[in-house]
Amino acid sequence: MPYRYDLVTGKNGFWENTDPVRLADQYGSPLYVYNERILRERCREMRDLVDYPNFHVNYSAKANTNLSLLRIIREEGLYVDAMSLGEIAIEEAAGFDAKHIFFISNNVSPEEMAEVIRKGIYVGVDSVSQLEMFGQLCPGGKVCVRLNTGVGAGHNAKVVTGGHETKFGIDPELYDEMRRVSDKYGLHLTGINQHIGSGFLTSEEFLEGTRRLLEVCMDYPELETIDLGGGFGIPYHKADGQDRLDLAPLGAELSKMFKEFAAAYGREVEIKIEPGRYIVAECCVLLGTVYDTKTVYENRFAGTDLGFNVLVRPVMYDAWHDVEIYRPNGEDTGKRQVVSVVGNICESGDTIAPKRELPEILKGDLIGVMDAGAYGYSMSSNYNSRLRPAEVLITTEGEVKLIRRRDRLEDLLAGFETC
Ligand code: LLP
Repeated sequence: MPYRYDLVTGKNGFWENTDPVRLADQYGSPLYVYNERILRERCREMRDLVDYPNFHVNYSAKANTNLSLLRIIREEGLYVDAMSLGEIAIEEAAGFDAKHIFFISNNVSPEEMAEVIRKGIYVGVDSVSQLEMFGQLCPGGKVCVRLNTGVGAGHNAKVVTGGHETKFGIDPELYDEMRRVSDKYGLHLTGINQHIGSGFLTSEEFLEGTRRLLEVCMDYPELETIDLGGGFGIPYHKADGQDRLDLAPLGAELSKMFKEFAAAYGREVEIKIEPGRYIVAECCVLLGTVYDTKTVYENRFAGTDLGFNVLVRPVMYDAWHDVEIYRPNGEDTGKRQVVSVVGNICESGDTIAPKRELPEILKGDLIGVMDAGAYGYSMSSNYNSRLRPAEVLITTEGEVKLIRRRDRLEDLLAGFETC
């Protein structure tokens, strides 16, 4: 029996009737592997979060834009948000209608905004000057404004998007000016949105942000949509038994707030949330291969093909991902060690799991990086002119499907103009 150190996938049945060694053999390494069952479960949990008739979930596609995953998410009844024309193009290809896409703009050019308006996609603006731009392009139009009510939260300062230290949203001091600009162009402020940040595991900040936003919404009589943003965190420390975000009390509190708001406002305005990570993070394991083990002075390294071009989160945010070990041939050596799992990029910071206490890792082992589905492939790059990995899906029917091929060397050369 080959050795498995699989504290997470051993419990959640991630591999279904296949196994990581077989997948790496067939599709190569590194490899993003997704599990459809888990993806659908997460969609349903968000869809059923509240008891309020006019509630919708906009999946925040920046977390993962794989076309096949987007199709599944659409089948589950979710809508989508988009940050760019590129995301819109993929969402359209996945079958989303313009009316189910919400464009959340940030510092966009007039050309980009004009094209989104032309497509009939609802636009959210992020500043008074971008509202002015919208007014010039679409006088008399319906628009959503992103407010910054002063509440922020997130797993790292880089992903806190509400409060004083962020570029996002319109600050309350400017609400009057925002209305003036809106009136000047005969606009209808039919939407208000916010997003306080990404990756919170307690509900307080989200509830506080929601409370504040709903209070402000009372001053806007034309509302059709209120979008509360995403940010719902997932337990990245599953191997240590970290708790999940408790959705039941959060949902109950939100349901109560929404109903009270509807009663006070006089209408059941559509209310949306915008989770990205919660939907896609946990349905994915990133597989890599150990090609070297070495000790440099007192430090032990397992050298893999998981460079930060493949998964940048640990390098960019000091983010933690649980790591598993799969040994194609061989037993547990019984030894444990403190080891840094590193990649193949020419930078010392190229570490996917620094100084972990793990069973001894050997050359030829496969490494599984847990919860890699959100901001994994979507933030990957060709740095060091490395090829981005393939993506495969373990379907609910128990098949394995290639859902994106690995880059080819010719992809690296494709954009160059000869001179
Ligand atoms: N809505 C808006 C307007 C956003 O900017 C974001 C994420 C979301 C929704 C979805 O947030 P989520 O539910 O996924 O937390 N690359 C970072 C996260 C950046 C989030 C950017 N905005 C990471 O890997 O942790």
